[in-house]
This record gives sequence, structure tokens and C-alpha cells, in this order.
Amino acid sequence: MAFSGEGCGLLSEHPATRVLRVILHSMPSLQQHEFVIDAVQFPERIGAMNWPWTSSSRKLKQLCDEKQKLRDRLAIVKKQRDSARAHRDRAKEELRRMSAASADTLGPVDDAAQALGFSDLLMQLDKVTRELQVEKHLHENVKMDLANAEANPLPPHLDWPLPPPDLRFRIGGERAAWTFLKIGENIVGDLKKLAEAAGRDVGEFTSVLDFGAGCGRVLRFLPPVFVNAQIHAADVDPVGLAWVGGHLPFVTSTHVLPLFPPTTIPDASFDFIFAISVFTHLPLDVERAWFAELRRIARPGALIVLSYMPDTAAALHFTPELAIENVDGFSYYKTTPTDGLPDYYHVSYHTEDAIRRLAGEHFRILSVNTRAVNAHQDAVVCTSA
Ligand SMILES: C[S@@+](CC[C@H](N)C(=O)[O-])C[C@H]1O[C@@H](n2cnc3c(N)ncnc32)[C@H](O)[C@@H]1O
Repeated sequence: MAFSGEGCGLLSEHPATRVLRVILHSMPSLQQHEFVIDAVQFPERIGAMNWPWTSSSRKLKQLCDEKQKLRDRLAIVKKQRDSARAHRDRAKEELRRMSAASADTLGPVDDAAQALGFSDLLMQLDKVTRELQVEKHLHENVKMDLANAEANPLPPHLDWPLPPPDLRFRIGGERAAWTFLKIGENIVGDLKKLAEAAGRDVGEFTSVLDFGAGCGRVLRFLPPVFVNAQIHAADVDPVGLAWVGGHLPFVTSTHVLPLFPPTTIPDASFDFIFAISVFTHLPLDVERAWFAELRRIARPGALIVLSYMPDTAAALHFTPELAIENVDGFSYYKTTPTDGLPDYYHVSYHTEDAIRRLAGEHFRILSVNTRAVNAHQDAVVCTSA
């Protein structure tokens, strides 16, 4: 049995996955089949969400322009109305004067009004007054949007482009833009909380490495939080990384990694390293090799945050005999290959003991945190000697 997507983590939150899980638990004979869940986009969910990116700075500018145009148009319509009003008043006055002078020669008042073009003027006035009301209404709407946008100004970095849907799918098993952005933003919040719980202020970090950055889902939200840090990205996927390098101008360096270390990154380069949803996919020998490399490139006293899937989640998706590796609390299962990622990229799980032991071979463990990353992966927080 295999699931496509991100280590079944996100997909495990998906309603379809939950239903499938219940069916598989109650009908074990089905477990021999291969199931592939292709996470699809649900555009209607965008509407259902309180989508903070609607008030982007670009939108703000567009609203200001629209408001100015409406202001100009409103002034023109007002002028038209005032001139129609003045015409009408003059015609009314003329009518009054003429009818007072010779009521019997002009005939019925309506005819007189018609003769003076008074009703045409009334119609014209009615038309411009209605136009004015519409313009005013539009103006009020734009004013409200503008006030909203100004109340929630958006830092310019959120206006950076989105990677194409296939790259988003590659790292998260979903193409939807809103999940990509929302998850990235959540995870940066989680990293901040984990650092603070370890007694570190995120403002103190000067050189941050996103290890396994993919196409920058997390990375793009770092600048306003890690305000004093140079941001570096590393990944074995050259395509995702090329997108990061080409579109996120705040990134100081990108490192395309070999499938196994060593890398060309100098010793002691970073004071904060994090890896989100990377050690949820690797076999044991690859994980061990990269832990050792992370120790080499971490500065003494650096903070290291590594997310992992707890072994309890494995039981929801796999039966033990499906494990390719199952060693002392570490297990690794084959899934549908992900386009563009290494052959060894499948899914792995750790018990708390296993992550403490494996990460503890290279780092001092500060804490192990349940569901601390986007509320579905656990995180081990460590420091280097
Ligand atoms: C599930 S994605 C997560 C991407 C990113 N951390 C995020 O949360 O958006 C896993 C990433 O790990 C990368 N990866 C796989 N094997 C790796 C390795 N040996 N070293 C570094 N990155 C690796 C993949 O290319 C992919 O970008």
C-alpha cells in the first residue's frame, strides 16, 4: 500500500484519507492493494477561508488607483447634475414667469413645460442623479476595501511569486496555493515558538539554513521573523532550488546537495539549521550521514530543529511487514516515487527514543515536541557542541 504525497502527513489530514484509513482498518484484506491518493485542489476552499493575502500591497495600490478614478468620475457626474439642475431651475422660472404673464395664451401647463424642454431636463436630471448614486455606492465600496487593506498592510515579501503548482505538489502533495502559503507561514511560527522555548530569541540568529528547502514554502516567510539573519537554502532537488534562487531575492545562497554528503559548504556556517519534513522521508543510512554533515556545518552552540513523523502515525498507514527497514524504533516504508526526488525518498518514522538516540549521536538534545510542526509532525530541538 502506498500513498503519494508528503509522507502521508498532510494527506492524513485529508478527509478522503481518513475514510480510506477506516475502511482499511476494518477490511484488512484490502491492505495488499496499492492505493494512490492524488491530492487535488479545492478552489472553493479559498473562498471559504479568511484569506489574508487579499490585502496585498499590490491590491492596495490597485485600490488607490481605482479610488482616484472614481473620485474623478464622481466630480464629472456631480458637475453634470449641477448643470442639469441649473437648467431645470431656469426653465421652471421661465415657466412660472410666462404662465403668470399670459396663462390663457400658453394653454395647459404640461404643454408649456414640454415647449420649454422642462421635462427633458427633468429626465436628464433624474438620469445623472441615478448615475451619481451608483458612482457614490462604488466609491463607498472601494473606500471600505481600502480601509481594510490599510488596516492589514502586507509586507512586500508576501507579494513574491508562487512556485508553479507541480513544484508545490512535489514538496507537499498538494497543488493549492492557499495550503502552500498557509502551511509555510504556520511552520515559521512554529520554528519561532520552538526556538523561544529553547531560550533563544530568533533575532539573535545571523545565518539560517533551511535544509531540504524545496521550492521555499517555509523559507519565504522567514525574513520578517528572523530579522537579522542571512537566509540560506539547501536541497537535493535542483529544480525547486533554482526556483528559490530565481524568485526570492532575500536568499543569500542556494546549495544543490549531492544525494550523500559531503557538501562543499564550509564548516561551522550556520547558527540555526532546520529541516522540515526531510527526515520523514529518508532511509537510516542516509539520515545518519546527513546528521553528521549537519553537525559539521553547524556553528558551536547552533540551534537545530528537525521534524519527524512519530512511529504511532506509521500504524495508521502501514502494517509492520511492509517496512523496508524497522530498526530500534526507526522504520522506513516504500511509497509511490515522487517525480524529481531521489529514489530513496519514501517515508520514515521514529519513536521518541529513536530520534533522541540518532540525533543525540551528533547533538545535545534540548527537547522533543509532539505535533509541534504544523500540528502534525513532531520536532526534536538540539544544539551543537
Ligand atoms: C516534503 S519536502 C519539504 C520541503 C520543505 N522543507 C517544506 O517544508 O516546504 C522534502 C524536501 O526534502 C528534500 N530532500 C530529499 N532528500 C534530501 C536530502 N538527502 N538532503 C536534503 N534534502 C532532501 C526534497 O528534495 C524536498 O524538497
